[in-house]
Amino acid sequence: MIFGVTGDLSRKKLMPAVYDLANRGLLPPGFSLIGFARREWQDEDFADEVYQAVKQHARTPFREEVWQQLSQGMRFVQGDFDDDEAFETLKKTMEELDQAQGTGGNFAFYLSVPPKFFPVVVQQLKKHGLADEKGDCWRRAVIEKPFGHDLASAKDLNEIVHEVFSPDQVFRIDHYLGKETVQNIMALRFANTLFEPIWNRSYVDHVQITMAEDIGIGGRAGYYDGIGAARDVIQNHLLQLLALTAMEEPASFDADALAAEKTKVLGAVKLPKDLGKSTVRAQYAAGWQGGARAVGYLEEDGIDPQSKTDTYAAIKLEIDNRRWAGVPFYLRTGKRLGRRVTEIAVVFQRAPHSPFDHTATEELGQNALVIRVQPDEGVTLRFGSKVPGTSMEVRDVSMDFAYGESFTESSPEAYERLILDVLLGDANLFPRTEEVELSWRILDPIEQYWDRHGKPARYESGTWGPVEADEMLARDGRSWRRP
Ligand code: BG6
Repeated sequence: MIFGVTGDLSRKKLMPAVYDLANRGLLPPGFSLIGFARREWQDEDFADEVYQAVKQHARTPFREEVWQQLSQGMRFVQGDFDDDEAFETLKKTMEELDQAQGTGGNFAFYLSVPPKFFPVVVQQLKKHGLADEKGDCWRRAVIEKPFGHDLASAKDLNEIVHEVFSPDQVFRIDHYLGKETVQNIMALRFANTLFEPIWNRSYVDHVQITMAEDIGIGGRAGYYDGIGAARDVIQNHLLQLLALTAMEEPASFDADALAAEKTKVLGAVKLPKDLGKSTVRAQYAAGWQGGARAVGYLEEDGIDPQSKTDTYAAIKLEIDNRRWAGVPFYLRTGKRLGRRVTEIAVVFQRAPHSPFDHTATEELGQNALVIRVQPDEGVTLRFGSKVPGTSMEVRDVSMDFAYGESFTESSPEAYERLILDVLLGDANLFPRTEEVELSWRILDPIEQYWDRHGKPARYESGTWGPVEADEMLARDGRSWRRP
């Protein structure tokens, strides 16, 4: 059951994911889909909307028989979130589907709505008795990001949600955790013997986590302005990547054990003292991208021309524990950068001594293990190798693992995996309350510092960000990778 079913996320991600799951044979025959929104739709209009979304965005081929079966269980409930009558209709619809389709009374409520509506929706679910689990049936709440605007608002939201749902009924979405390559961070680290012995301050010089996008804010001005890059993706996606990269090995791969390790490492994250020198925020200016002229952020439709919202953010973090003391983690993200790429680069220390001629190794970089989250999913190891020839010249080379070459299996889209896990009640890939709050605890002082200190820097669209970010790393004697 999706609240906010007329939104972008629902059309581009949720509806196609449901179809793909059905197509892969992963949904039970009684599976039903209820949409709830203000629009004056009938069931057929809703089914038609899902059909269009599937045709446009589904990953798997269209199969008429799968669609026929799926569309039988589609219903639409029209109303406002504070409309009691609509919630009574919803209740009746759920009962009717239980009879007609055999849902077993199990329902997941997906809140694909702006956060300001979370309180009213969960309270309505409680008021109309829809959140109660009776007998063997389950009721679950799925909550989309952003989960709060800062630590205080996240705590308030948590309180409101937990008045109605118990912690094991709540699934907070961070779609990065649904990505195959993100789950592979754990396999890479803990299914092998090769990496873990050097995964610490004795060998690692620093870690760079990059999430670069070439798109601007598109039609999302209303959501994005006032939120910015750091709240939009560092608070959730990038800090989750940091947690998976830096955490200790969990005792098992179950949700409690995993959350315990992520919570421990997020709790050990420390901000450098001088936030002016260790953080950068910036806004894209006009420029060229993909051969086309791109407008600057302040010229985008719906953006306040005085806006100070960051479309780029870079921050340096440290982790106060024995494994990582003194190893900086540099996080950066931005819209309208050179290209779309998300990667984690673990950069190793230089060899303490080189027996080779200095001039022959001058160009040699540092060894690096790069986990390519997207696109070109895979892992690259950079190391020095002798250049063929009569002299002992050493140059950087890459050893590459690419998903496309090693596996024939196709990976499910992140939302497919996450929706399936909600239905199965598997909470491994969903951040817990503590993780969300610890992430805000890290970000809050940075946002407050930025609020007090002037305007964001600028960078031309289509470049790799502001010079201030390069200077930030140069002060530490390092430089950003050019993925
Ligand atoms: C979302 C952000 O969480 O992630 C968007 O709100 C961003 O601003 C998107 O564009 C990127 O997701 P992906 O999966 O394309 O990297």
